[in-house]
Amino acid sequence: MPNPSSRISGITPHGKDGWEVHFAAMTRKQAGEDIMMLSVGDHDFDTPAQTVEACVTAVRQGRHHYTQLAGLPRLRAAMAAISEQATGLLTRPDEVIATPGGQLALFAAAQATLDPGDHAIMIAPYYATYPGTFRAAGAEFTVVEARAEDGFEPRAEAIEAAIRDNTRTLLINTPNNPTGAVYSPDTLEAIAAVCRRHDLWLISDEVYWTLPGSKKHVSPRALPGMAERTLVVNSMSKSHGMTGWRIGWLTAPADLVARLVSLNLVTTYGLNDFVSRAAIEALENAYGVDEIAERYATRRKAFLDATRGFNDVTVRGSQGGMYVMLDISAVDFDCEQFAWRLLETEKVAVMPGLSFGEAARSHVRISLCQSEDVLREAAERLRRFVASYGERRRSA
Ligand SMILES: Cc1ncc(COP(=O)(O)O)c(C=O)c1O
Repeated sequence: MPNPSSRISGITPHGKDGWEVHFAAMTRKQAGEDIMMLSVGDHDFDTPAQTVEACVTAVRQGRHHYTQLAGLPRLRAAMAAISEQATGLLTRPDEVIATPGGQLALFAAAQATLDPGDHAIMIAPYYATYPGTFRAAGAEFTVVEARAEDGFEPRAEAIEAAIRDNTRTLLINTPNNPTGAVYSPDTLEAIAAVCRRHDLWLISDEVYWTLPGSKKHVSPRALPGMAERTLVVNSMSKSHGMTGWRIGWLTAPADLVARLVSLNLVTTYGLNDFVSRAAIEALENAYGVDEIAERYATRRKAFLDATRGFNDVTVRGSQGGMYVMLDISAVDFDCEQFAWRLLETEKVAVMPGLSFGEAARSHVRISLCQSEDVLREAAERLRRFVASYGERRRSA
């Protein structure tokens, strides 16, 4: 075949993609092995029944047609209303563009703010698609580490030190995947000050905004001078239990949104009609939102209670979102080896921290997408594994 473009070939570099343990575990589970899957961030429950019914009704009503490129007007209005709640700032429908999932909103945000050769900054540990999303825009990027001892909140000085002449965009994520860190107002103020000082765009990934744990979600968009430079990524995947429906949105200055409509023209050509109708109902009625938030809060507490007093394993971040990060450096510096052995010995699948960047090298990520009973049992297996692993290493 002729040569593919370097753009498409360069999105994910060759070799490992960080999902090896997860896919090996999944294959074994599908073959009948009793494996606890704590590796992936997808709910173990279905979409709320009211949302499903709304979709079925829409299909029956003949909602099978093209929709406006930026989203149905009522969908944009419903999304704007949620953005107003999430960011605390008056939001008009023309400041919102609907996308198939938060991932497309991230892609659009990178395309909207970066030219090829521009430089961006992101914080590690990071959500696994971030590097590829910047590469797809032809941008270079620097990864700034948030430290475990800071609860994985980034330091504004470290971000500022990474700025170059061609830096245009900073990407942050709170509540965070994979760390569960929920950034404090002080951290966000300091980040916003850096963006204002250096005239940067800020992409704020807030797809877990309904899961802030015992903290309050704060959006940097609401801080002084930030609405004009902030693009907020949102999604119904986590908040409304709709991962497979692929629906999310970007909130940004109206001028930028108007330009972004052309990206929808050449990529998605608008959203699925009946999914849009179901999403409108789910957004307007907050179907499932409180229940899902409560469920994850209860699960987080159950898992953290069960790991309390673990020798050699320390919880870091883990205040909100759908994940818990465990520092395993006292047991093993090689998180991949740890994850493989945990799978072999105790049949528990977790994500090695390295999948989320160097900053998480000595950690593993636990997904809370399982019942409390499963999480308690997984904690027990982890305790047993760590005790015998430590023993073996000491006697080796
Ligand atoms: C931090 C973060 N951002 C964005 C997304 C994309 O979500 P979706 O495309 O399902 O809306 C995810 C999904 O796991 C995520 O964890």
